Order: sequence, then C-alpha cells, then structure tokens
Amino acid sequence: MNAPLPRLIRDQEFPAAAEEHLRAHFQTPDRIPEPANTANMLALAQSYEPHAILISHTVRADAAFLAALPPSVKIIACVSVGVDNVDIADANSRGIVVTNTPDVLTDCNADLVMMLILGAARRASEYMTIMRDGWGRGFGMTEMLGLRVTGKTLGIVGMGRIGRGVAQRARGFGMRVLYHNRRELPAADAAGAEYFARFEDMLPHCDILSLNLPGGTSSTLITRESLALLPKGAIFINASRGTHVDEDALIEALQNGQLFAAGLDVFRNEPTPDPRIAALPNVFLTPHMGSATIETRSDMAKLALDNALRVLGGEAPLTPVTP
Ligand code: DGY
Repeated sequence: MNAPLPRLIRDQEFPAAAEEHLRAHFQTPDRIPEPANTANMLALAQSYEPHAILISHTVRADAAFLAALPPSVKIIACVSVGVDNVDIADANSRGIVVTNTPDVLTDCNADLVMMLILGAARRASEYMTIMRDGWGRGFGMTEMLGLRVTGKTLGIVGMGRIGRGVAQRARGFGMRVLYHNRRELPAADAAGAEYFARFEDMLPHCDILSLNLPGGTSSTLITRESLALLPKGAIFINASRGTHVDEDALIEALQNGQLFAAGLDVFRNEPTPDPRIAALPNVFLTPHMGSATIETRSDMAKLALDNALRVLGGEAPLTPVTP
C-alpha cells in the first residue's frame, strides 16, 4: 500500500496547472477558509494538522501564530517574494523551514513598476475617466499634459532582483538610473546604474523615485523630509510595501505639487487603503498586483509546492529564507 500523501493547507486557490500539481502530491481540505485570514488559517491548521502551510503575504505567521501550530507543521512556504509577514527566526527555532518564491516573479513585478511609471507620468487614470465618461471634448494643445518619461532620471531604492529588472527596462526608455542599496553592486550587476550610499544624497537627482526594497527592513523611508528633497514635480512609485511610506506626507506632497504624480501598488492599510489616496486625481493605483499574471502566479504556486515536497522528502528547499 502506498504511504498517504502529506497534508497541506493554503490560503489561496491556485491557477489550474498548479492546482493539478498540488492534488497529485498532497492531501488538502476541499475548501479554503473564507475569509482566509490569519485566525482562520490557524484554526484550520489546528484541526487538519498539516505538514505544510502555503500562505500569501496577507496571513501573519508571527510568534503567537507559530506557537499555536500543531507539531506536524514542517514548512511554511510563502507564495510571495516578501516574507515580512513571517517571524522567520521563531519558525526556524521551532524546526519549521520558511521559503519564498523569488526569481519567478521578477519580470512581472518589474513590468508592473514600468506600468506605474507610465501610468503616473502620462495621467492614465484621468484619461481612463475621460474615456469612460464618453470623451466628448475637442483637442486642446495644453490640456491634460503629462510628463515625458524618456530620458528622465530614475532613482531606485533597493537594487535586488526586481530593482535590477526595473533598471534594465528603464534603460530601454533612455533613462539615467541611480540606486541606493545597502551595498554597492558589482559593476556587471549595476550595468551602469550609479550608486548612492546615502538615500538622502540621491533624492535631489530623481525625476522618478521607485521603491523596490523588501518590507520590514527599515523605518518609514518616505517622509515629509525625504519628499522635500526630491525635485519639485517628481514622480513617486511604490510596488514594494506600504509600510515604507508616511501616507499623510505623500498625500500632502501630491496635493501641493511637490509631487507631480504617484504610481502605487501597495498601501499601509490593505485591502482598505486610506480613501484620500484614491480621491486624488494625480495617482495611478493598482491593488497589490505585481505578480498577477497567469504565468507568474502558476510558477509561484508550483515553486512553493516544490519547496514543500522537498522539505517533506528530507531534501533542502529550493528557495529557503533565513532571518
Ligand atoms: C510579494 O511577492 O512579496 C508580493 O508583494 C505579493 O505578496
């Protein structure tokens, strides 16, 4: 008789190919908790006693969550690159491996950053509103003008995989690329991007500033003071984590013209962001969708499942994360 398949719970349904992979290798409850929040995932873990838990960034695996898990759990596989929702040190101290899904989502996240840059600079949300309202007005040489993206100077904060993907795309738009990072990159990785050891020193040079750093790593980076160091009329882009931003300061800068526009995929309070942000005309907003393509979401789920399979089979995970 074959050994029973390992048990797995997850907070999300996967694209079809990954669902097949899941069902071929694991037992899993018929239903995902609704809502699949932290409390409901914990309750399910306690009743189902899984060997593996797959979670998105919306479930918080903090010390209290980890302490209440049954001893069956051997891996928490994050279906995300960000792991700021998991207390990795605490999980490891309990013998639970933590993994994430880097690389497979780099291109789509970098693509989305370019979409935010273009959408913010070219007033895409206002144009959509005009079209949805039926357009119906004549040509105006000075009306609804955006900013040219080609040739601008882009400052990237966080030159990891996604930051470098953004830099590569920005070069296609003839942009000068600056970056601030904990460490200066080897020249081959920097590919011509200019390093600033101090964040504050880079800001006055940035026509466009893009945050591409992990969550949970810094105190609030975007404040009234840092926004004031940007050239007047700059564009701010955030597709990393909303916690890096003082949203009161951001709203003020968008209202008083210090910023021309912002392109935002992430917010402090998700999924119910401060309504004052969406009320601004000069924002281009997406609901935390950096990796949201059929291909990438399938690859992320498959990678998370493969990590679980390997750990439960006594092998090293493909993409572990350490504290
Ligand atoms: C990531 O992968 O970290 C995305 O932000 C979704 O969580």
